[in-house]
Amino acid sequence: MDTIMREIHFTLNGEPVEARVATHENLVDLMRRFDLVGARESCGQGLCGCCTVLVDGVAVSGCLSLAILADGKSLATIEGLERNGELSHVQQAFIDEGAFQCGFCTPGFILMTHQLLAANADPSDEEIRDHLSGNLCRCAAYPEIVSAVRVAASRMRDRKAA
Ligand code: FES
Ligand code: FES
Repeated sequence: MDTIMREIHFTLNGEPVEARVATHENLVDLMRRFDLVGARESCGQGLCGCCTVLVDGVAVSGCLSLAILADGKSLATIEGLERNGELSHVQQAFIDEGAFQCGFCTPGFILMTHQLLAANADPSDEEIRDHLSGNLCRCAAYPEIVSAVRVAASRMRDRKAA
């Protein structure tokens, strides 16, 4: 059977782009076309969060999301968080708190944290754990990850107050 292809247009990390995609292709495959490797397919079943991509600011599992659904949307990956060579406050907090070991899960956790802090500038530990409960870290860096989210939130509030 012939593969059905569609032309899509979307914004990727702030840049307008276009792609011709197969209707069965997922978002992780689409990101690879643009040499973006931060969203990683691991479980392939929507269970681990390693493949997280923000679509119009909402975190989705790239392994389960069809690429054609990106049409007309704004997508963000870990590669787009840096601004003028500066890491985002969340990325920096993860480094400062040592919130990773192998780093395989880290892009997903960082994108989820950006989503959380955009909605809640002062989350409790329970809210942090709840928001990140769909992300798995095989290195079990969970205490440091929660700490990094707290630090990022605090720095963000300080910056706003300054
Ligand atoms: S690879 Fe998509 S949720 Fe695990
Ligand atoms: S740091 Fe290794 S899986 Fe999370």
